[in-house]
Amino acid sequence: MELIDGKALANTIKDELSETVLQLKEAGKKVPHLAAVLVGEDPASQAYVRNKVRSCERVGFESTLIRRPADISQEALLEIVDQLNKDDEIDGFIVQLPLPDHINEHVVTLAIDPKKDVDGFHPVNFGRMAQGMSSYIPATPYGILQMLDRMNIQTEGKEVVVVGRSNIVGTPISILLSRKAKLGNATVTLCHSRTNNLKEHTLRADIIIAAIGRADFVTADMVKEGVVIIDVGINRVEDAGRKRGYRLVGDVDFDGVAPKASYITPVPGGVGQLTVVALLLNTLKAANKEVFG
Ligand code: GUN
Repeated sequence: MELIDGKALANTIKDELSETVLQLKEAGKKVPHLAAVLVGEDPASQAYVRNKVRSCERVGFESTLIRRPADISQEALLEIVDQLNKDDEIDGFIVQLPLPDHINEHVVTLAIDPKKDVDGFHPVNFGRMAQGMSSYIPATPYGILQMLDRMNIQTEGKEVVVVGRSNIVGTPISILLSRKAKLGNATVTLCHSRTNNLKEHTLRADIIIAAIGRADFVTADMVKEGVVIIDVGINRVEDAGRKRGYRLVGDVDFDGVAPKASYITPVPGGVGQLTVVALLLNTLKAANKEVFG
Protein backbone atom coordinates (compact mmCIF):
# COMPACT_ATOMS: atom_id res chain seq x y z
CA MET A 1 0.00 0.00 0.00
CA GLU A 2 1.30 3.44 -0.93
CA LEU A 3 -0.07 6.53 0.71
CA ILE A 4 -0.72 9.40 -1.71
CA ASP A 5 0.79 12.40 0.03
CA GLY A 6 -1.45 15.29 -1.06
CA LYS A 7 0.57 17.85 0.83
CA ALA A 8 3.85 16.85 -0.84
CA LEU A 9 2.24 16.84 -4.31
CA ALA A 10 0.66 20.23 -3.63
CA ASN A 11 3.99 21.66 -2.50
CA THR A 12 5.72 20.37 -5.63
CA ILE A 13 3.13 22.06 -7.86
CA LYS A 14 3.27 25.27 -5.80
CA ASP A 15 7.05 25.32 -6.22
CA GLU A 16 6.58 24.96 -9.98
CA LEU A 17 4.08 27.83 -9.95
CA SER A 18 6.48 30.03 -7.95
CA GLU A 19 9.12 29.38 -10.59
CA THR A 20 6.64 30.31 -13.34
CA VAL A 21 5.85 33.57 -11.56
CA LEU A 22 9.56 34.41 -11.35
CA GLN A 23 9.89 33.79 -15.07
CA LEU A 24 6.87 35.99 -15.80
CA LYS A 25 8.37 38.79 -13.70
CA GLU A 26 11.75 38.47 -15.40
CA ALA A 27 10.02 38.73 -18.78
CA GLY A 28 8.28 41.89 -17.56
CA LYS A 29 4.87 40.26 -17.74
CA LYS A 30 1.86 40.60 -15.48
CA VAL A 31 1.58 38.26 -12.47
CA PRO A 32 -1.68 36.21 -12.33
CA HIS A 33 -4.35 37.87 -10.20
CA LEU A 34 -7.16 35.96 -8.46
CA ALA A 35 -10.09 37.66 -6.72
CA ALA A 36 -12.41 35.97 -4.22
CA VAL A 37 -15.79 37.22 -3.07
CA LEU A 38 -16.81 36.07 0.41
CA VAL A 39 -20.35 36.78 1.62
CA GLY A 40 -21.19 36.36 5.30
CA GLU A 41 -19.35 34.77 8.19
CA ASP A 42 -19.60 31.02 7.57
CA PRO A 43 -16.51 29.63 9.37
CA ALA A 44 -15.77 26.91 6.79
CA SER A 45 -16.07 29.40 3.90
CA GLN A 46 -13.81 31.86 5.73
CA ALA A 47 -11.22 29.13 6.23
CA TYR A 48 -11.36 28.04 2.56
CA VAL A 49 -11.03 31.59 1.26
CA ARG A 50 -8.19 32.36 3.68
CA ASN A 51 -6.40 29.29 2.35
CA LYS A 52 -6.94 30.43 -1.25
CA VAL A 53 -5.52 33.90 -0.53
CA ARG A 54 -2.59 32.46 1.42
CA SER A 55 -1.82 30.03 -1.41
CA CYS A 56 -1.73 32.94 -3.88
CA GLU A 57 0.81 34.68 -1.65
CA ARG A 58 2.87 31.48 -1.37
CA VAL A 59 3.33 31.24 -5.17
CA GLY A 60 3.57 34.99 -5.83
CA PHE A 61 0.15 35.54 -7.41
CA GLU A 62 -1.76 38.73 -6.73
CA SER A 63 -4.98 38.26 -4.82
CA THR A 64 -7.93 40.44 -3.88
CA LEU A 65 -10.46 39.50 -1.21
CA ILE A 66 -13.85 41.19 -1.35
CA ARG A 67 -15.87 40.64 1.84
CA ARG A 68 -19.52 41.57 2.17
CA PRO A 69 -22.06 41.01 4.97
CA ALA A 70 -24.61 38.18 4.76
CA ASP A 71 -27.43 40.67 4.15
CA ILE A 72 -25.98 42.01 0.90
CA SER A 73 -28.67 42.12 -1.79
CA GLN A 74 -28.46 39.91 -4.86
CA GLU A 75 -28.34 43.04 -7.02
CA ALA A 76 -25.36 44.41 -5.09
CA LEU A 77 -23.54 41.09 -5.41
CA LEU A 78 -24.27 40.97 -9.14
CA GLU A 79 -22.83 44.48 -9.41
CA ILE A 80 -19.57 43.23 -7.84
CA VAL A 81 -19.50 40.31 -10.29
CA ASP A 82 -20.01 42.75 -13.16
CA GLN A 83 -17.14 44.95 -11.97
CA LEU A 84 -14.85 41.92 -11.69
CA ASN A 85 -15.87 40.77 -15.17
CA LYS A 86 -14.80 44.16 -16.55
CA ASP A 87 -11.64 44.65 -14.47
CA ASP A 88 -8.62 43.94 -16.70
CA GLU A 89 -6.37 43.62 -13.63
CA ILE A 90 -8.29 40.52 -12.45
CA ASP A 91 -7.55 37.36 -14.45
CA GLY A 92 -10.02 35.11 -12.67
CA PHE A 93 -12.36 35.19 -9.70
CA ILE A 94 -14.59 33.05 -7.55
CA VAL A 95 -17.70 33.71 -5.49
CA GLN A 96 -17.41 31.41 -2.50
CA LEU A 97 -20.40 29.10 -2.01
CA PRO A 98 -22.74 28.56 -0.27
CA LEU A 99 -24.43 31.95 -0.49
CA PRO A 100 -27.18 33.14 1.90
CA ASP A 101 -30.66 31.77 1.12
CA HIS A 102 -32.00 35.03 -0.33
CA ILE A 103 -29.38 34.91 -3.11
CA ASN A 104 -29.87 32.57 -6.07
CA GLU A 105 -26.54 30.81 -6.64
CA HIS A 106 -27.45 29.90 -10.21
CA VAL A 107 -28.08 33.53 -11.10
CA VAL A 108 -24.72 34.54 -9.64
CA THR A 109 -22.85 31.70 -11.36
CA LEU A 110 -24.44 32.59 -14.71
CA ALA A 111 -23.37 36.23 -14.27
CA ILE A 112 -19.67 35.33 -14.11
CA ASP A 113 -17.81 35.77 -17.40
CA PRO A 114 -16.86 32.18 -18.40
CA LYS A 115 -13.40 33.48 -19.37
CA LYS A 116 -12.82 34.44 -15.71
CA ASP A 117 -14.68 31.49 -14.15
CA VAL A 118 -11.68 29.77 -12.58
CA ASP A 119 -14.05 27.61 -10.48
CA GLY A 120 -15.32 26.08 -13.73
CA PHE A 121 -18.91 26.24 -12.43
CA HIS A 122 -20.45 28.22 -15.32
CA PRO A 123 -22.46 25.98 -17.70
CA VAL A 124 -20.29 27.20 -20.58
CA ASN A 125 -17.24 25.72 -18.90
CA PHE A 126 -19.09 22.58 -17.85
CA GLY A 127 -20.38 22.10 -21.40
CA ARG A 128 -16.97 22.70 -22.93
CA MET A 129 -15.50 20.16 -20.52
CA ALA A 130 -18.16 17.58 -21.40
CA GLN A 131 -17.44 18.05 -25.11
CA GLY A 132 -13.68 17.71 -24.70
CA MET A 133 -13.00 21.37 -25.48
CA SER A 134 -10.54 23.43 -23.44
CA SER A 135 -12.22 24.65 -20.26
CA TYR A 136 -11.63 25.49 -16.63
CA ILE A 137 -12.04 22.23 -14.74
CA PRO A 138 -13.55 22.54 -11.23
CA ALA A 139 -10.95 22.46 -8.48
CA THR A 140 -11.59 19.05 -6.91
CA PRO A 141 -11.79 17.03 -10.16
CA TYR A 142 -8.78 18.92 -11.50
CA GLY A 143 -6.91 18.16 -8.27
CA ILE A 144 -7.75 14.45 -8.65
CA LEU A 145 -6.44 14.48 -12.24
CA GLN A 146 -3.21 16.09 -11.04
CA MET A 147 -2.90 13.44 -8.36
CA LEU A 148 -3.43 10.52 -10.77
CA ASP A 149 -1.03 12.06 -13.27
CA ARG A 150 1.77 12.73 -10.85
CA MET A 151 1.44 9.32 -9.16
CA ASN A 152 1.54 7.71 -12.64
CA ILE A 153 -1.75 5.93 -12.00
CA GLN A 154 -3.12 4.76 -15.34
CA THR A 155 -6.82 5.21 -16.09
CA GLU A 156 -7.03 3.86 -19.64
CA GLY A 157 -9.22 0.77 -19.79
CA LYS A 158 -9.67 0.75 -16.01
CA GLU A 159 -12.94 0.25 -14.16
CA VAL A 160 -13.60 3.43 -12.20
CA VAL A 161 -16.46 3.68 -9.75
CA VAL A 162 -17.41 7.17 -8.61
CA VAL A 163 -19.59 7.27 -5.49
CA GLY A 164 -21.55 10.53 -5.36
CA ARG A 165 -22.99 12.64 -8.21
CA SER A 166 -22.53 16.23 -7.08
CA ASN A 167 -22.15 18.96 -9.69
CA ILE A 168 -18.72 19.93 -8.39
CA VAL A 169 -17.10 16.50 -7.89
CA GLY A 170 -18.87 13.25 -8.82
CA THR A 171 -20.48 14.26 -12.09
CA PRO A 172 -17.49 16.17 -13.55
CA ILE A 173 -14.88 13.57 -12.55
CA SER A 174 -17.01 10.82 -14.12
CA ILE A 175 -17.12 12.80 -17.38
CA LEU A 176 -13.40 13.60 -17.29
CA LEU A 177 -12.24 10.04 -16.66
CA SER A 178 -14.42 8.65 -19.45
CA ARG A 179 -13.31 11.21 -22.06
CA LYS A 180 -11.10 10.20 -24.94
CA ALA A 181 -8.09 11.98 -23.52
CA LYS A 182 -4.97 11.62 -21.45
CA LEU A 183 -6.12 10.73 -17.93
CA GLY A 184 -9.35 9.47 -19.44
CA ASN A 185 -10.37 6.37 -21.40
CA ALA A 186 -11.68 4.66 -18.29
CA THR A 187 -14.95 2.74 -18.01
CA VAL A 188 -16.79 4.82 -15.45
CA THR A 189 -19.78 3.90 -13.30
CA LEU A 190 -21.41 6.78 -11.43
CA CYS A 191 -23.05 5.49 -8.25
CA HIS A 192 -25.16 7.52 -5.83
CA SER A 193 -27.58 7.33 -2.93
CA ARG A 194 -30.21 5.48 -5.02
CA THR A 195 -27.84 2.88 -6.50
CA ASN A 196 -28.97 -0.70 -5.88
CA ASN A 197 -26.32 -3.19 -4.77
CA LEU A 198 -23.57 -0.59 -4.52
CA LYS A 199 -21.12 -3.23 -3.37
CA GLU A 200 -21.50 -5.15 -6.65
CA HIS A 201 -20.15 -2.08 -8.40
CA THR A 202 -17.40 -1.11 -5.99
CA LEU A 203 -16.06 -4.68 -5.84
CA ARG A 204 -15.37 -4.45 -9.60
CA ALA A 205 -13.51 -1.17 -9.35
CA ASP A 206 -9.82 -0.69 -10.10
CA ILE A 207 -10.19 2.91 -8.91
CA ILE A 208 -12.80 4.22 -6.47
CA ILE A 209 -13.50 7.94 -6.16
CA ALA A 210 -15.50 8.42 -2.96
CA ALA A 211 -17.38 11.72 -2.92
CA ILE A 212 -20.68 11.09 -1.17
CA GLY A 213 -20.10 13.06 2.02
CA ARG A 214 -20.70 10.27 4.53
CA ALA A 215 -18.08 9.31 7.09
CA ASP A 216 -16.47 5.87 6.63
CA PHE A 217 -19.06 4.93 3.97
CA VAL A 218 -16.76 2.70 1.87
CA THR A 219 -15.66 -0.29 3.92
CA ALA A 220 -13.13 -3.10 3.39
CA ASP A 221 -15.76 -5.66 2.28
CA MET A 222 -16.72 -3.33 -0.61
CA VAL A 223 -13.31 -3.19 -2.33
CA LYS A 224 -11.06 -5.62 -4.16
CA GLU A 225 -7.36 -6.21 -3.52
CA GLY A 226 -5.13 -3.65 -5.22
CA VAL A 227 -7.80 -0.96 -5.56
CA VAL A 228 -6.78 2.69 -5.88
CA ILE A 229 -8.73 4.82 -3.41
CA ILE A 230 -9.29 8.54 -3.94
CA ASP A 231 -11.19 9.81 -0.91
CA VAL A 232 -12.79 13.21 -1.46
CA GLY A 233 -14.85 13.24 1.75
CA ILE A 234 -14.16 15.64 4.59
CA ASN A 235 -16.54 14.72 7.42
CA ARG A 236 -16.52 15.81 11.03
CA VAL A 237 -17.04 13.06 13.60
CA GLU A 238 -17.33 13.72 17.30
CA ASP A 239 -14.17 12.98 19.22
CA ALA A 240 -14.13 13.93 22.89
CA GLY A 241 -10.40 13.16 22.95
CA ARG A 242 -9.66 16.16 20.70
CA LYS A 243 -9.48 19.72 21.97
CA ARG A 244 -11.90 20.96 19.29
CA GLY A 245 -14.30 18.05 19.99
CA TYR A 246 -14.18 16.44 16.55
CA ARG A 247 -11.83 14.92 14.01
CA LEU A 248 -11.95 14.87 10.23
CA VAL A 249 -12.51 11.58 8.40
CA GLY A 250 -13.09 10.74 4.77
CA ASP A 251 -15.84 8.81 3.02
CA VAL A 252 -13.66 5.70 3.24
CA ASP A 253 -12.93 3.64 6.35
CA PHE A 254 -9.20 4.23 6.03
CA ASP A 255 -7.97 1.69 8.58
CA GLY A 256 -10.11 -1.10 7.15
CA VAL A 257 -9.54 -0.36 3.46
CA ALA A 258 -5.86 0.69 3.41
CA PRO A 259 -4.42 -2.86 3.76
CA LYS A 260 -6.27 -3.91 0.56
CA ALA A 261 -5.39 -0.80 -1.46
CA SER A 262 -2.45 -0.28 -3.82
CA TYR A 263 -2.76 3.49 -3.37
CA ILE A 264 -4.92 5.47 -0.96
CA THR A 265 -5.35 9.14 -0.09
CA PRO A 266 -5.47 10.11 3.58
CA VAL A 267 -8.00 12.56 5.07
CA PRO A 268 -6.84 15.15 5.89
CA GLY A 269 -3.71 15.55 3.76
CA GLY A 270 -5.07 14.03 0.55
CA VAL A 271 -7.28 15.41 -2.21
CA GLY A 272 -8.10 18.57 -0.23
CA GLN A 273 -4.51 19.74 -0.57
CA LEU A 274 -4.75 19.62 -4.35
CA THR A 275 -7.96 21.61 -4.74
CA VAL A 276 -6.42 24.99 -4.00
CA VAL A 277 -3.52 24.13 -6.27
CA ALA A 278 -6.03 23.40 -9.04
CA LEU A 279 -7.55 26.85 -8.55
CA LEU A 280 -4.08 28.38 -8.89
CA LEU A 281 -3.47 26.38 -12.08
CA ASN A 282 -6.75 27.66 -13.49
CA THR A 283 -5.79 31.22 -12.56
CA LEU A 284 -2.50 30.83 -14.42
CA LYS A 285 -4.44 29.56 -17.45
CA ALA A 286 -6.72 32.59 -17.18
CA ALA A 287 -3.75 34.96 -17.09
CA ASN A 288 -2.22 33.20 -20.10
CA LYS A 289 -5.60 33.24 -21.91
CA GLU A 290 -5.08 29.52 -22.52
CA VAL A 291 -8.66 28.33 -22.26
CA PHE A 292 -10.62 30.68 -24.51
CA GLY A 293 -7.70 31.93 -26.62
N1 GUN B 1 -17.52 26.06 -1.68
C1 GUN B 1 -17.00 24.82 -1.50
N2 GUN B 1 -16.11 24.53 -2.47
C2 GUN B 1 -16.10 25.59 -3.30
C3 GUN B 1 -15.36 25.89 -4.49
O1 GUN B 1 -14.58 25.09 -5.01
N3 GUN B 1 -15.62 27.10 -5.05
C4 GUN B 1 -16.49 27.98 -4.52
N4 GUN B 1 -16.67 29.14 -5.15
N5 GUN B 1 -17.17 27.74 -3.42
C5 GUN B 1 -16.96 26.55 -2.80
